[in-house]
Amino acid sequence: MDQLIKRKSKRGRSWLVGVWLMLLTSLSVMAADKKEEKEIPLDPVTGMKMTGDWELVRNNCIMCHSPQLFLRQKGTLVTWKEIVHWMQKEGGLWPLPPELEEKIVTYLAANYGPSDAYRRAPIPATYMPTNPYESKIKKDVQKKRAAGLIPVRKP
Ligand code: HEC
Repeated sequence: MDQLIKRKSKRGRSWLVGVWLMLLTSLSVMAADKKEEKEIPLDPVTGMKMTGDWELVRNNCIMCHSPQLFLRQKGTLVTWKEIVHWMQKEGGLWPLPPELEEKIVTYLAANYGPSDAYRRAPIPATYMPTNPYESKIKKDVQKKRAAGLIPVRKP
């Protein structure tokens, strides 16, 4: 009888050890996941990802507006280049030496690039349902209007 109890408790303990091991491994896996997510630290002042040439971007892009204006955007290298040129034309951004511009757009495209989570490709027209508002009458009217058969009323 004594022996039976002993054996039972031993088995109970090994079961507990198993549970502990499982818990520990899952915890360490979770910790590793978290680490990966937080790989790039954010600058507490601007909220920018502190990597690469982020300071060059900060020095040139937060003088006139909040960094959120560009941190909320997503773009490819080409899009970011267009934004910088538009900034120079319309926003008063000063001229940038080509190599500095390259560094700025490279940082922006690498860290604020397009992502699957935000945009999807447009649905091809062949997959779309027919337009319920497209009627024969409407088409006729459009044709007549294009031909100048319907007088335009002035407001
Ligand atoms: C000299 C001032 C100035 C600097 C420096 C500047 N911007 Fe701007 N930015 C503006 C102004 C002004 C607007 C608003 C223009 C408008 O809406 O017509 C603007 C708007 C923007 C917008 C559009 C936001 C939106 O959603 O409409 C983006 C993106 C942007 N800037 C990015 C940048 C980046 C990237 C840089 C650095 C390369 C930069 N800006 C540097 C003045 C500046």
